[in-house]
Amino acid sequence: MASAGTIKAMSQPTSSTLSIADLRKSYERAELNEDASQADPLKQFDQWLKEAIAAEVPEPNAMTLATVASNLRPSTRIVLIKGYDEHGITWFTNYDSRKGHELAGNPYAALQFHWVELERVVRIEGVVEKVSAEESDTYFNSRPLDSRIGAWASPQSEVISGRSVLVANAAKYGAKFLLQPPRPPHWGGYRLMPDNWQFWQGRKSRLHDRLRYTLQGDGGWLRERLAP
Ligand SMILES: Cc1cc2nc3c(=O)[nH]c(=O)nc-3n(C[C@H](O)[C@H](O)[C@H](O)COP(=O)(O)O)c2cc1C
Repeated sequence: MASAGTIKAMSQPTSSTLSIADLRKSYERAELNEDASQADPLKQFDQWLKEAIAAEVPEPNAMTLATVASNLRPSTRIVLIKGYDEHGITWFTNYDSRKGHELAGNPYAALQFHWVELERVVRIEGVVEKVSAEESDTYFNSRPLDSRIGAWASPQSEVISGRSVLVANAAKYGAKFLLQPPRPPHWGGYRLMPDNWQFWQGRKSRLHDRLRYTLQGDGGWLRERLAP
């Protein structure tokens, strides 16, 4: 029996069950073509995100963020999109985290959404900047109280001696700030300003649709089809 704090081991595959190398599915839900897609990638993204939300896919707002450290090693983690418009795509985090340090040294980053049930992926690349202090304050103050205290309690990405550190920090900052924690100076938003978007729609026989949008000097977008 699984003890508290552990999860049950998954049953072991037998010789009659599939190996992971045999796991595959055919993508047949939809198509993406030049005629039906938007000329502006932001509009295409808006349409697909709204469709993902309407389809009730799990965590449609979760995106993978890739950054590159000064030693040129890439790393990824998931963050939540909190806004998007013609200025870029916004998320919030700890500026002293690993991703924060990597973005301080190299502002180029990539984002990826995978909406499994819709057989869709969006990839976005560009340069990242911090959002204004006012924008970070506004979002911070809209968060639930425990999340605001949590921003103080967690020295994100640092090694801690145990979970008790977080619990003690949360109690300490909860008592200090009561119902009005200010935004920590090390916490706020980033905005990625896209210069490259890719939209992937799974298709039958691995002949998937891929449309890439590349920012042009005049501010327009070049739309091209990529081989899958
Ligand atoms: C669904 C999901 C959403 C998350 N959203 C955020 C977020 O918006 N901001 C954040 O800092 N971390 C978020 N995290 C945690 C990050 O994935 C990551 O563990 C953390 O930011 C530390 O990353 P780093 O050490 O690479 O900086 C989220 C994790 C998951 C699974």
